[in-house]
Amino acid sequence: MLAMRAIAALAMGAAMMFESWAFIMPHQDPTDTLILVNKYNRAPAVPITLVKPDIPPTREALSENIYMQPKAAAALEELFAGAKADGLTLLATSGFRSYSTQKAIFERKLETMSEKAANASVAKPGYSEHQTGLAMDVEGLSSLGIGLVDDFGETPEGKWLAENCHEYGFIIRYPKGKTDITGYIYEPWHVRYVGKEAAAEIAALDVTLEEYILMVRGDRVKFLEGENADESAE
Ligand code: DAL
Ligand code: ZN
Repeated sequence: MLAMRAIAALAMGAAMMFESWAFIMPHQDPTDTLILVNKYNRAPAVPITLVKPDIPPTREALSENIYMQPKAAAALEELFAGAKADGLTLLATSGFRSYSTQKAIFERKLETMSEKAANASVAKPGYSEHQTGLAMDVEGLSSLGIGLVDDFGETPEGKWLAENCHEYGFIIRYPKGKTDITGYIYEPWHVRYVGKEAAAEIAALDVTLEEYILMVRGDRVKFLEGENADESAE
């Protein structure tokens, strides 16, 4: 783990040198559990295999909105079972989204807030992790109805998720205080499947996926400069 921390420090230094988290990962494989999708990296526009995990949706009307890639779906079932074993019920709100679904969500957001605020909470179509089938928005039975809000992080289910999700291969993708790196506000409800090994390392190092990718795949990243380093999704 010490070696890991040393590499992390180097990677962080590299990012600070460029004063930017604007980098792209060329030629990403949509089934790669470490795929990076953010404001600079599009979700690959290719068909992916999706299955519906055997878990409860937040509402029956959302039961067709919770598909994931098979390995993520299997891990999510284990995650929900783990919570259940500890006396907590997680519910699934939103998994895979098509380009057009993400477009509709983004446009709806624009009706209620400025473009800047919308950009910080919803990905533009083409740039959402939900388009990979590796992400899920979850809610908890004890706070059913509060929706996808900060306060979820303070509920028993939200706390359990943050403490335990890495054991099942998931990370809280948009942690508190990391907006300058991830591009998004704190989302305690959005979990991303990265596999158990990566999730354990990300949790132990307390880093974002962007920082971790830089650590383990720094040789492949291409930093953007100048105008290209402005949010490419804008
Ligand atoms: N809320 C996350 C960033 C998304 O729209 O994908
Ligand atoms: Zn989400």
